[in-house]
Amino acid sequence: MTTDDLLARHRAVLPSWMPLYYAEPIELVSGSGRRVTDARGRSYLDFFGGVLTNMIGYDVPEIREAVERQLRTGIVHSSTLYLIRQQVELAEKIARLSGIPDARVFFTNSGTEANEAALLAATNHRRSHQILAVRNSYHGRSYAAMGVTGNRGWSASALNPLQVAWLHSGERLRGLLARLGEAERVEAAVEDLHEVLATQTAGDVACLIAEPIQGVGGFVHPPDGLFAAWKKVLDSHGILFVCDEVQTGWGRTGEHLWGYQAHGVTPDLLTFAKGIGNGFALAGVVGRADVLESVPGISFSTFGGNPVSTAAGNAVLDYLLDHDLQANAARTGAILADGLRAAVGGLDGVAEVRGKGLMLGVEFVRPGTAEPDPALTDRVFEACRAGGLLTGKGGLYGNVLRMGPPLTLTEDEAREGLAILVDAIRSCVAAEVAA
Ligand SMILES: Cc1ncc(COP(=O)(O)O)c(C=O)c1O
Repeated sequence: MTTDDLLARHRAVLPSWMPLYYAEPIELVSGSGRRVTDARGRSYLDFFGGVLTNMIGYDVPEIREAVERQLRTGIVHSSTLYLIRQQVELAEKIARLSGIPDARVFFTNSGTEANEAALLAATNHRRSHQILAVRNSYHGRSYAAMGVTGNRGWSASALNPLQVAWLHSGERLRGLLARLGEAERVEAAVEDLHEVLATQTAGDVACLIAEPIQGVGGFVHPPDGLFAAWKKVLDSHGILFVCDEVQTGWGRTGEHLWGYQAHGVTPDLLTFAKGIGNGFALAGVVGRADVLESVPGISFSTFGGNPVSTAAGNAVLDYLLDHDLQANAARTGAILADGLRAAVGGLDGVAEVRGKGLMLGVEFVRPGTAEPDPALTDRVFEACRAGGLLTGKGGLYGNVLRMGPPLTLTEDEAREGLAILVDAIRSCVAAEVAA
């Protein structure tokens, strides 16, 4: 069966609101390290890792063997009604690494459910369903997670179990705070928080939920320190801080294990997903015992933290720490960021090269303006694929090219990908300017 046949069958049976990448969609049939091969036999260097999820890369023996060991026991599933050794071990490691004192961990299957669980705990702990969320955020696809998602394109329903008030993100390029200097943006964002609390809430807000770097939002991030400045205000009202580390966690930013650490603050609850399973369905929330223990009824996830995915999770985390992949993200990310800034940062049409570590975005605008240019972004995206590089797209206006390669990326691979990126961006921007 050809890829074209598969595409026709996909379109006939799967919903159209679940988009496929590329004008000619691809089926990945094998992978090794940071490279994947499609069904037409074309191979690619992968700078998106299944949306930052193949964090260690493809076909990693240590992870495969850990999963195979678990499968050989005959127990794929037992339910959390029974003790799960792999789950307890992983929870101990995550609690220790979270930086949250005396933490508890609850495992789920997805980032959406992790945020749902965090919101459940926070709303019960505070006896309030009022939430602060950030514009241009993405937190998942359940009603509560969509309810705190500040991105029209990803808000498929207005139904919302929460009462949400929206903060400015502190981003540099767009919105009311744009064009302010770093320190002024922090001050303005704090003023905004005071004003939102005074004008849009009825007191007793449960929590603020925020991503350190907005993933779907196009790798937009506030100035370092904003979360600490916000937390000072939150603490004075007893409001909890939930940090969504689904994309930023596990050292991806290079400078820290968690995105929140750039802000000199510790969250009350932290959610994780994507990379920790390296493709196996594994996610969860880690947080202060008194907050997580506030859930007043039985709350249980059939598959959350199952023996197979937690076997994978333990192997992923051990691999990550044993190989100091955070340092590797800093090293290889710097090759990419510096190279991109030097080669294309000054081009008319490139508004910004931003991000941290191996979480990098390039924002495209119509040459000579600040207007988002999703069509140019699309052309660059397709040109990267034609050149043998898989990347991602994002941003409120679909005008950001996103790179989130496995954290095992080598320096040679970083240079190889950089060359493809630079070629694609230069040629597409030149064609746009000439048109
Ligand atoms: C920051 C963030 N939070 C939550 C989610 C939702 O995770 P999932 O798709 O596993 O439900 C995502 C997914 O992209 C995300 O990027």
